[in-house]
Amino acid sequence: MKALVIGSGGREHAILWALKRTSRVPLDLYCAPGNGGISELAKCVPISVDDHQSLIEFAQTNAIDMTIVGPEGPLAAGIVDEFEGRGLKIMGPSRAASRLESSKAFAKEFMRRQGIPTAEYFVASSTDEALAALGSGKFGAPDSPVVVKADGLAAGKGVVVAHSHKEAEHAIADLTAGKLLAAEAAKLLVIEEALDGREVSVLLFADGRDYALMPPARDHKRIGENDTGPNTGGMGAITGPAVLDQAMLQRIASEVVEPTLKGSSDEGFPIRGILFVGLMLTAAGPKVLEYNVRLGDPETQAILMRLESDLFKVFQATIAGNLRDVEVKWNDLSSACVVLASEGYPGSYQTGVNIKGLDEIASSDELQIFHAGTAKGTGGEPVTSGGRVLGVTAAAETLDQALGNCYGAISRLSWQGMQYRRDIGKFEAR
Ligand code: AMP
Ligand code: GLY
Repeated sequence: MKALVIGSGGREHAILWALKRTSRVPLDLYCAPGNGGISELAKCVPISVDDHQSLIEFAQTNAIDMTIVGPEGPLAAGIVDEFEGRGLKIMGPSRAASRLESSKAFAKEFMRRQGIPTAEYFVASSTDEALAALGSGKFGAPDSPVVVKADGLAAGKGVVVAHSHKEAEHAIADLTAGKLLAAEAAKLLVIEEALDGREVSVLLFADGRDYALMPPARDHKRIGENDTGPNTGGMGAITGPAVLDQAMLQRIASEVVEPTLKGSSDEGFPIRGILFVGLMLTAAGPKVLEYNVRLGDPETQAILMRLESDLFKVFQATIAGNLRDVEVKWNDLSSACVVLASEGYPGSYQTGVNIKGLDEIASSDELQIFHAGTAKGTGGEPVTSGGRVLGVTAAAETLDQALGNCYGAISRLSWQGMQYRRDIGKFEAR
């Protein structure tokens, strides 16, 4: 069988690694466009994730049996509909279902219609409306925190958690002026009640009828230790019993996951592929922060370390709508992924810096270094090529051991300006 993964990050490296490790049939693996680490595992094809036509031609010419989409951009742009229109098998939701991720206003209104717990909000279509909403009293006194979000896809840059209404006014001005992201993504703004609590990511396979939960994960979004500094794509993730207890997971399944799947089917856009719910565990119960319709990065790296079932088969069943016929099994270990990033990330950074120590680390089923932003230098040596560079990932009996194994490996890796958080999983590990 031949599988093509679309994307070039640590998530895609982990998907390919898990496909190879768990498949009971031999797989020929391809990745478009891939990265330096992925090229050791799959044939990298230099096609951009946005070039749907070339991807379709590649899949047709090479008789690809299944395509798996990593990032949200191509999903929101309808790649799944395009592949399926040509009879090609592809893992991911339709363009219509992808709106749960690609429009925050759409997602909030869906949650309101379906009675799914989420923060209070107002959708504003102009700066004046946004300012009026702030002043309406709905979002508390001027000194209370409030969240401002751009409606569209913004790679993590479209959300400002403001400490006061004054700060929120600045965020509104910056977002609409196109200072933080393309102004197109901020045509609508969502003003949202600030929630307090710990965050959790609940991911699942959904086939339009049934679903299978993955182990819940916790991301670490801020660049700085103790959750300080700007948001990033994610600086580390953990899984294991310390993240979420079974009772709360069950509650999230019945109060959030099931109404989301049923609501989307009832409204005519059944979710087939991945659903990723970002939640805040508040004193008043779990509330949805956001939906994604793809695997998370770096959650996937930590989660897939624990997969025991055949991932290719699970994807096949998800696409075919018969998830109920396959077992999706996870081991009882805890896992962690610590991201190593370039100096300057999430702002601007240098690339082409030599990475030292990679050859000295023996990888295994319990320790993997997933590549995110790496390339091969002129002599084939590994060099940095992105903001997030590597995801050092381990699974072990306890979270403490998994983290110890990650940080042990990291102590042998270096490059000029390498930065990472030393406190991943610190709150949960004992
Ligand atoms: P989102 O992309 O909507 O998940 O927002 C990115 C991050 O901003 C989340 O992971 C939270 O850390 C934070 N955030 C989003 N919405 C809220 C909220 N209503 N209250 C507090 N923090 C939030
Ligand atoms: N790690 C968060 C995300 O993938 O959106």
